[in-house]
Amino acid sequence: MQTIIEPFRIKSVEPIYFNNEAERKLILEKAFYNPFLIHSNDVLIDLLTDSGTSAMSSNQWAGIMQGDESYAGSPSFFHFEKTIQDITGMPLVIPTHQGRASEKILFSILGGKGKYFVSNTLFDTTRANIEFSGAEGVDLVCEEGKHPTVAAAFKGNMDTEALKNFIAEKGAANIPLCIITVTNNSGGGQPVSMENIKAVKKICAENNIPLFIDACRFAENAYFIKLREAGYSDKSIPEIVQELFSYADGCTMSAKKDAFANIGGFLALRNEALAQQCRNLLIMTEGFPTYGGLAGRDLEAIAIGLEEVMDEHYLQYRIRSIEYLTNKLIAAGVPVMQPAGGHAVYLVADEFLPHIPIDQYPGQALVAELYVHGGIRSVEIGSLMFGKYDANGKLIPAALELVRLAVPRRVYTQSHIDYVAEVIIEVFNNRNKIQGLTIVEEAPALRHFTAKLKPVATDLHDEQLKKAEAALPVL
Ligand code: F0G
Repeated sequence: MQTIIEPFRIKSVEPIYFNNEAERKLILEKAFYNPFLIHSNDVLIDLLTDSGTSAMSSNQWAGIMQGDESYAGSPSFFHFEKTIQDITGMPLVIPTHQGRASEKILFSILGGKGKYFVSNTLFDTTRANIEFSGAEGVDLVCEEGKHPTVAAAFKGNMDTEALKNFIAEKGAANIPLCIITVTNNSGGGQPVSMENIKAVKKICAENNIPLFIDACRFAENAYFIKLREAGYSDKSIPEIVQELFSYADGCTMSAKKDAFANIGGFLALRNEALAQQCRNLLIMTEGFPTYGGLAGRDLEAIAIGLEEVMDEHYLQYRIRSIEYLTNKLIAAGVPVMQPAGGHAVYLVADEFLPHIPIDQYPGQALVAELYVHGGIRSVEIGSLMFGKYDANGKLIPAALELVRLAVPRRVYTQSHIDYVAEVIIEVFNNRNKIQGLTIVEEAPALRHFTAKLKPVATDLHDEQLKKAEAALPVL
């Protein structure tokens, strides 16, 4: 097969500022070993997130110039509204400034003490907004989704048996929504099958629980359905997308992902009474319902991006570039989530660094080393992000210890990705020298964004290494 090429030419470029390992060591120390506290000019390849980091197309930039900035009734809103109605089949479209603003509005209305929101896996801001309302978020991902290195086609699927049991246990009246995240970001960017969405919808309908989609990466998920699910190979992406949304009663969306926008989001709904409540809150917190926290130009860029993302040449290149990096790492023996997800490569940090105990955050230690060694910025999705403390202050670890390398859309070329693979493999080959970290300062919620850390003492590290080596089988 021929190389799958980037389906675009580059018209405008941004410089990368180079620095060396010694400089990066100091930068990291000053940033308290937290990649969110590093200045982006000090990063060579920025894989912190695929959110808001896309390269917009010349058409989107043209749309930016055409944006109508009227406070009320802007034609840019009607373009935005019509595009989303066509894609989702949902008549009621509410613009927000990003995904979490949609979540905040939705869960302020539907949340509260004693309520449960069930999901395949909730993203961190979604969970935080649910918990902030007093409600609980519950992840019911399928068994395959809990094993990072076990390959399966749809590891983002929800466990339908667990869903039925949960509903029976807590009572449908206490479950205001079921939310399917496509693709399953916190579970490795793994897709959800149409069959699973249909099955979840059936259970929800029988129990009068509305089904919502967290739609951030809907097009990537649709492409996986086309590739992997029987009966979909001849369907177009818009057809698959329309079917996917047809099972949902509503969706939240961050346009910073699969809409190629640098900012933006929306809520799309079928229920007028709920939409009215959402709009009332929107006016208080975001803005008038025809702009909702966005400029007219943003609405245009999002409307155009939502059409562009469903192009099959783009999606083929997108999914292939993640798979390309994943395969290079697998070939070098690096523990990596399999199969490749849609938007990111996930290193399995506890297998990469078995000598670092979980309460010394192996994921964050790996993030630190990737930055120092190669200037690559990644993010921990593990016990720093999701860990909690028990009554004695002991860490309750996250289900998975992952490091995410999220690839911005249409930004990096194949040689950038080759460089990333080289750096990870070099770090892997020298993994024994990597030390664990301890937290110096942390916030009560979403602590990973602002936490300050420091390395554990070197003598402790040496001791752990000796123990780990002693535990290895003698060949
Ligand atoms: N839902 C999912 C699945 C997400 O991945 C995100 C954001 C959100 C909701 C919130 O959207 O950022 O526009 O408020 N994920 C980013 C990430 C931040 O890096 O994965 P937002």
